Amino acid sequence: MHRRHLLRFAGLAAAAPLARPFLGALPLADDIRVDPASLPRAPLRLAPRLHGPALTLRAQERVVEIAPGVKARAWTPGEGPVGPTIEARKGEKLNIVLENALPEPTILHWHGLRVPEAADGHPRLAIEPGSRYDYEIPVIDRAGTYWYHSHAHHRTGIQSYRGMSGFFLVRDEHDDALQLPAGVHELPMLIQDRRLANDGTLVYDPMMHENMEGFFGDAAFVNGIRLPMHEVETTTYRLRLANGCTSRILRLALSNGAPFLMIGTDGGLLPRAESLTSIDIGPGERVDVLADFAAVPVGQTVSLVSQAFENPAMGMMGMGMGGRGMGGGPGRMGAGGIPQGGALPLVEFRVARAVAPQPWRAPALLHPERFPVRQAVRIRTFRFESMRMQHTINGRDFDMSRIDESVPSGDTEIWQFVNPSPFPHPIHVHENQFEVVERIGGRGRIMPWERGLKDTVLVMPGEQVNVRLTFDVYRGRFLMHCHNLIHEDMGMMLNFAVE
Ligand code: C2O
Ligand code: CU
Ligand code: CU
Repeated sequence: MHRRHLLRFAGLAAAAPLARPFLGALPLADDIRVDPASLPRAPLRLAPRLHGPALTLRAQERVVEIAPGVKARAWTPGEGPVGPTIEARKGEKLNIVLENALPEPTILHWHGLRVPEAADGHPRLAIEPGSRYDYEIPVIDRAGTYWYHSHAHHRTGIQSYRGMSGFFLVRDEHDDALQLPAGVHELPMLIQDRRLANDGTLVYDPMMHENMEGFFGDAAFVNGIRLPMHEVETTTYRLRLANGCTSRILRLALSNGAPFLMIGTDGGLLPRAESLTSIDIGPGERVDVLADFAAVPVGQTVSLVSQAFENPAMGMMGMGMGGRGMGGGPGRMGAGGIPQGGALPLVEFRVARAVAPQPWRAPALLHPERFPVRQAVRIRTFRFESMRMQHTINGRDFDMSRIDESVPSGDTEIWQFVNPSPFPHPIHVHENQFEVVERIGGRGRIMPWERGLKDTVLVMPGEQVNVRLTFDVYRGRFLMHCHNLIHEDMGMMLNFAVE
């Protein structure tokens, strides 16, 4: 089955055996005992950057340091605890080889980018251990904070959690022209919540109730490092923040109450910058913001945090769902996560050096492109339901070979995402950057961080969110799904064919 599909994309993919498919048991000190409260902060690490035109990602199990003196088994397509950052320019063509040295099938998806069907990482394209997949990716999208992660059938959650995820940054002339903070002043940060067991392993074992609401970690990991710290200068930083959590919504804020200057969303720069003191992003969403430490005295710290908010499931589920197991205390880590809406420290910035102020000033217009005014010719409605231990779209769960919707190429459509369930659903559409046009019920408005190009939108319980989209580049079979990876793996996903 896999092989047949590989062969069908003749020339793109070849199944060639690799030398060692799986490393087997790796040494891991079993005397590691971690008391979460006592762990010092580890320096933040940025993933190594990879450039085209040809690059190889070898997915394998590696023992990586995720906190000072604490090693964990990660599954990653690079050397670090998460995948490397792929950097490309619009107009470039990349050849990416994925080698699977994991003990199970995998495939990578380039979230947010418009790519040919054969390069989209559909689960039916997953490759067996010992095989490779050749992606040909013409980078046609504009500068933005895209990312990639595993899209293996039923295994997206655990593989992405273990490290099969990373950034895919695209740059172009508009981005260059703004002379945004760059180099050491640009920090891509992939945020994930995980549970670190006291033997140093990363636990992912959703229990029954977690299969409904989602799986929540007991601490934040940034670029695969647990609760990191980073030394900064008294200047402006560009933070490219991705929510790579399994199920958690993040309410991003700075601990000193200073605002972010938001400059971009999932699909790139906004028409104009906006000052915001907090930003909500669900799993799969990204935000490009500037944080200014110019006014912070040297020696002080400012943290990037996820602020507490009311668990949207609480009202509808009653007590007991979200209130349980705040970490469980030393020795019982892994017993439960911090519930949805719980406060979570992310990264601590230590202001270490004063530099001559070089304030970045936003031009009146950040990006010249506006949403095209196109009349929608069709409306489709999708209901995301979670009940009786099932997560469905319009009453159905995912069938790899069933085409649920046929979408004529070039037509502009309105897709209505309706959430009658007690849980938030961050809805993601492949192969597209859409416009959020309306939210009915719940928050009742388009949030400030939803005014740019989006590929994922958070639909809270009781909400309907309408988006306008057009597929006019590639034809083929693509996916739409909930990006709560528990829900996705349990079938809250469908195939649409652009024809
Ligand atoms: Cu980021 Cu199909 O997903
Ligand atoms: Cu995607
Ligand atoms: Cu969902």
